[in-house]
Amino acid sequence: MNIGFLVSHRGSNMQAVVDACTAGRLDARVCVVISNNGHSEVLVRAHNQGIPNFHLSSRTHPEPEQLDRAIAAVLREHQANLVVLAGYMKKLGPRTLFDFSGRILNIHPGLLPKYGGQGMYGRIVHEAVLAAGEKETGVTIHVVDGVYDHGQVLVERRIPVRSDDDVDSLSERVLEHEHELLVSTLAQVVSGSLRLP
Ligand code: GRF
Repeated sequence: MNIGFLVSHRGSNMQAVVDACTAGRLDARVCVVISNNGHSEVLVRAHNQGIPNFHLSSRTHPEPEQLDRAIAAVLREHQANLVVLAGYMKKLGPRTLFDFSGRILNIHPGLLPKYGGQGMYGRIVHEAVLAAGEKETGVTIHVVDGVYDHGQVLVERRIPVRSDDDVDSLSERVLEHEHELLVSTLAQVVSGSLRLP
């Protein structure tokens, strides 16, 4: 399984997958990393580990259609047969969605649909969960279609919210679960025990 990652900033989920592959816990390879931020930490991580990495954004490709074609081409050129969005803040274009239809996964740090949709990402999700006084939150991995946080849910893990949680403690604990859940879900896809649509 050749996994292409699209990441906007940090890349800790991508790193968790690389580490699992290196440790032999995941029979896969991160074949390429694409970021819409030329100075993102994820590109540095990829560079330092010899993983092909590309800054592709409206800066490199002002025309949305060009950018969409470039993303699809880079993924194809690196033989990606599964695409993971992990903290990718941009919408994919129709070409990429078509070329990799049913093979694009997104990991979201909250329960869907209640804590998803445009603008619901990162710390904003945890702030909303705490503000609503929820007793639990979670991690969701879903198939990507053309709508934010909308495709078929593959797996969801519920996580209790502690009375003394703040945004930092909650996001930190959720992120640990994300790393675990992403690796275990990818392992199920690789083994065929979890079938993609
Ligand atoms: C993760 O919390 C992910 O669920 C969300 O954005 C964050 C990305 O973190 N979509 P990282 O770049 O993988 O560290």
